[in-house]
Amino acid sequence: MPRSPLIVRTLPALRRALDGLRVRKATVALVPTMGALHDGHIALVRLAKRRATRVVVSIFVNPAQFAPHEDFGSYPRTWKADIARLAAEGVDMVWNPDVKTMYPAGFATKIITEGPATADLEDRFRPHFFGGVTTVVGKLFTQTRPDMAFFGEKDFQQLKVVTRMARDLDLGVKVTGATTVRERDGLAMSSRNVYLSAAERAAAPVLYRTLKAAAKRLRDGDAITATMAAAADAITEAGFELDYVEARHSESLAPVKSIKEGPLRLLVAARIGKTRLIDNVGV
Ligand code: PAJ
Repeated sequence: MPRSPLIVRTLPALRRALDGLRVRKATVALVPTMGALHDGHIALVRLAKRRATRVVVSIFVNPAQFAPHEDFGSYPRTWKADIARLAAEGVDMVWNPDVKTMYPAGFATKIITEGPATADLEDRFRPHFFGGVTTVVGKLFTQTRPDMAFFGEKDFQQLKVVTRMARDLDLGVKVTGATTVRERDGLAMSSRNVYLSAAERAAAPVLYRTLKAAAKRLRDGDAITATMAAAADAITEAGFELDYVEARHSESLAPVKSIKEGPLRLLVAARIGKTRLIDNVGV
């Protein structure tokens, strides 16, 4: 039986545990998650294990990044299985504060970011989202003071926002992105995929397939406007309601008119039934 990671739930216990981890020359990596762990999360843990001597995973379903109509209450929670997986990966510590520890009574401070956080992508459809993410990730960074932290490219705009925030606030954390882990048929792994019915699950790979096809067309010289319009049609025809499918500059996330302005990233968000999925690919 692999050894269970140390599970820490209060700030005094966290301080003590970090003193124990930070032995001479130790480097600490943080992998922030909301639990319901899948192979995408585990890929981040493995990368962290390769780069640092100590790995901390946070599991905190952050109410601040959900709008009232979103799925905070029903977000999947699979604590026992999560801990078993993290034990098998040799994770040192799990930081699992409760909501009152993260947001004590009277909590009144928020981290507001611009730049990639106002790119008119996720922020257009989830205006509360990045304020919630940056505030909690900022707190996770100051609570655990890691040398480095790992985020998935799956949430591409989030990765850019957090990278920018860590630099802008001199948090001393090196943020690294990791490639999206996919199911065999191309669907990006997500804790929310469990919401999909069998028919929706069968339709879901269209997002990745369409992005890949659009990326190829752009590389082959087709115009961005026509290519992205065809992508939008393919996704809608498969039964999705499209929030956006766009070609953007992969660093600034600014809109682009030509592939020459690249490197480009194609990003999509679309809803099927009650599930909202996002994905992206490089061109
Ligand atoms: P969560 O959705 O649990 O994702 C945690 C981390 O895993 C994020 O960095 C996300 O990009 C990464 N991830 C998710 N699916 C992935 C996949 N298929 N391949 C690779 N990486 C993947 O993102 C969040 O939680 C929250 O917003 C958080 C950053 C924890 C702040 O609350």
